[in-house]
Order: sequence, then structure tokens, then C-alpha cells
Amino acid sequence: MMKRIAVFTSGGDAPGMNACVRAVVRTAVYHGIEVYGIMRGYSGMIKGEFVRLDSASVANTIQKGGTILKSARSQKFQTREGRQQAFDQLVNNGIEGLVAIGGNGTFTGASLFEEEFGIPTVGAPGTIDNDLYGTDYTIGYDTAVNTALEAIDKIRDTADSHDRCFFVEVMGRDSGYIAMPCAIGGGAEIVMIPETQMSTEAVVESLKSSWRRSKTSFIVVVAEGEEEGNAHTVAQRVKEAIPQLDTRVTIIGHIQRGGAPSAADRLLASQIGIAAVEGLLNGMHNVMAGIVDRKLVYTPFSDTINKKKLINQSFMRMVEILSV
Ligand code: F6P
Repeated sequence: MMKRIAVFTSGGDAPGMNACVRAVVRTAVYHGIEVYGIMRGYSGMIKGEFVRLDSASVANTIQKGGTILKSARSQKFQTREGRQQAFDQLVNNGIEGLVAIGGNGTFTGASLFEEEFGIPTVGAPGTIDNDLYGTDYTIGYDTAVNTALEAIDKIRDTADSHDRCFFVEVMGRDSGYIAMPCAIGGGAEIVMIPETQMSTEAVVESLKSSWRRSKTSFIVVVAEGEEEGNAHTVAQRVKEAIPQLDTRVTIIGHIQRGGAPSAADRLLASQIGIAAVEGLLNGMHNVMAGIVDRKLVYTPFSDTINKKKLINQSFMRMVEILSV
């Protein structure tokens, strides 16, 4: 039975990370084991930035955005020397197991670290991108989509007033998971995501066709990983093809990463936090805890990292039908 574990957040922060840390801490306390927080992800692990956490340390945090443990993307942890230093710090502090809250990069590091040094690690999917295989939803995704959607609703108001075409870029790394519900929920005319090929020419044709049907304002949601280019590039090409179209670009950006987590994210984070600690205590390691079809599953890091979570292609058709 482990006596002491540690939890850290790493990579891009996501709303609900605090709810997950809280669940990890309280589950550890519930099972009578000590828990430490590692500040600034792998970077703090290397430097030995450990803080003892108890139930009170995470009071009043479930509703807070960001991460109380702070986050970082560590270059040094990518070196063998850095990982050796991190391992030495964990051993010196008597840490026997880890809960890693983060995304693909976090689990790539965790998997390598465990293979090299054997510290059992269970991952919690914390990223707004929802691009992790092994869970239907990641912690922070629901909040980020709602934040982006709120922005799109506001953009729609001004687009409509001025008869303009807005190209709205949303985050999501190399996936369209954020873009798709934003397009459907925001009533966008077009969505461009990396998972499907939609050429700029097709966008031009679609806008012309909408124009002929007397539409006067348009929203094109562009995922940041879109292969045709970013929102500025696409907007410029469209403007060249349809000079009379009054175009504007909005990059929603890091607003999507902040704010109080939604109810769905708080619930997911709490479920996963409990599952991560109980998984560790039951001998799980090198896996990510996730929810698939409403059931708790533990997926090997190797699958989480290497397998692609496919986006439902019928969503593209929904956008086409609903924007007619
Ligand atoms: O992974 C979360 C995310 O917000 C991505 O959507 C985006 O590509 C990236 O992080 C931005 O990273 P940074 O905050 O380092 O600019």
C-alpha cells in the first residue's frame, strides 16, 4: 500500500484542473495516504517544488479556473538528465506514486518516465482540446466550448448588423473538437477542421451560394490546426476571390483556457480525480483514467498518446444542413 503520492498539472491549463486536484487530494486523505502537490509540472518536479496538501488546502477551489499548482511545459524533462533529477527529487521526498493531470505531452513524458524509473503514474485528461484517445471528454473542454460559443454569439450580433463575414479561429491544437460544436451551436455557415479537407475554393463557393440565397452575414469557424491555413490566411484568400465581401477575423485565443469550470467539467474532474487515486492504490500504472460511454476506463498511455480519437464526420453534414 502506498503511503505518499503526489499530484501535478502540466501543459496548457484547463478549467476544472483545480476540481481534479481537489478530488485527488481528498481521495488520498479519505484513504489515509499523504499527498503532495508538485508546483509547475515537470519543471517543479526537477527542482523539488513540493508542497504538502491536506483537505483544507483545496477548500474553495472547485469553482476556480487555472491551476493552483501552476503549470509549465518543461524542456529539461525531455532530457534523460532532467528526468534523473526529477526521479531523485521524488525518491528524496518519499513519493511512491503520481497523478499527472494534463494532455498528450504530459502523458508522453509520464510514460517515458515510468518506463525508465518505475514510478507508478496514473493520468487525468486535463486539456481544453478533447483530443485524447481513451476518454469521450477531457477536463476543460466543455467550459472552453461554452466560452468560445459565447464569443461567437456576440460576433454574430455585430456580423449581422454590418452584413459582414467573420472568420473565427478557435483553439484545439491539431484537432477540430472545439471548432465543431462551436460551429453547430453558433449557427456557423462553414467549419474548417484538420480532420476533413475543405479547400478555400469550397469555402468561396459555399459563401457565394449563401449570398445568392440572400444571406448577408456569415460565420466561418476555423480550427487553429486547419491545414488550409489560419483564419487570417483563409480570410485573405476569400477576400481576394470575393472582393465585395466585408471580412473580419477574430482569434478567440486564450480566453478559452480561463474561467470557472462548467458543471460538466467539475463533475468529470471529480470523477477522474477519485478514479486516478483509487487506480494507483489498486496497482494501476502507466494509464490514463477516462470516461467512455459513461463508464470509467483506464487506457494505457501508449494508446492515449498514439491512437487518434476520431471526430464524428456526420457533424460536418449537420453544419451544411443547418446553414442552408
Ligand atoms: O493544449 C491547449 C492549447 O490551448 C491548444 O489549444 C493550443 O494550441 C495551445 O495549448 C496553446 O499553447 P500556449 O498556451 O503555450 O500558447
